[in-house]
Amino acid sequence: MSEKPNQLIGRDIIYLSETDSTNEHVRRLLEAGGLAAGTVVVAEQQTQGKGRAGREWESPPGGLWFSVLMKPKLPLERMALLSLVFAVAISQALNKYAMVNCQLKWPNDIYIKGKKLAGILLEAGIYDEQNYLIAGIGINMNLDKDALSPANWELAASLSDYSPKHLDRLQILETILQHLDLYYTRFAGGRFNDILREYKSRCFHLNQQVSINRAGKLITGINIDIDDSGRLILDVGNKIEAISTGDVHVLQ
Ligand code: BTN
Repeated sequence: MSEKPNQLIGRDIIYLSETDSTNEHVRRLLEAGGLAAGTVVVAEQQTQGKGRAGREWESPPGGLWFSVLMKPKLPLERMALLSLVFAVAISQALNKYAMVNCQLKWPNDIYIKGKKLAGILLEAGIYDEQNYLIAGIGINMNLDKDALSPANWELAASLSDYSPKHLDRLQILETILQHLDLYYTRFAGGRFNDILREYKSRCFHLNQQVSINRAGKLITGINIDIDDSGRLILDVGNKIEAISTGDVHVLQ
């Protein structure tokens, strides 16, 4: 455990060699007797890493797999905006190490050169009558081809392929935590619109033809905007649709 008194996010860091899922680990510690807001759990590998929409997240050694506990005093719909806020923060931090700028895919995937570099899984709950949010962050850092299943390797990027330097996991973790803390402070200070502007400037499918699967129904249209509730706005021809969840596919 290490301490950083001037930062909320990452003030306490718990380092593990292995766990099932850092999100689950944080939840268990919280439920076993409380855990301070801002605590981070980082593991060298996860045996049951979780992705969005119930998918598996392969987490071999070499990647950066960690979760942050937040206890924001915010209604659920505002908490959901943290998904975009954290995506901007992480892409900004990773740009310090990558030779090519990272881009964003709604709501919170970080891409580099058309492949997925990092993802975020937000899980909210209530403990001791207080809302909490666990932000789980997975970054493909020093991954080699054999570490991932072939289907995932096709879609994934490793930061090490875009960096001239050797990548030190814990140094990058520190940079990311500083950025998460900075952007969280801006968000809590009412500056979501500035962050949203930054998000849009990095989002690679704005003004593109996209399709999105909503409750089993495919919606296709031009992604004309992301509104200040964080929803994807699609012009589907005869009307405008506002979408709150789903996976975006860019159509060529
Ligand atoms: C996604 O893009 O589907 C989200 C991936 C989130 C993966 C991270 S790795 C650390 C944390 N622990 C988990 O089990 N999942 C998240």
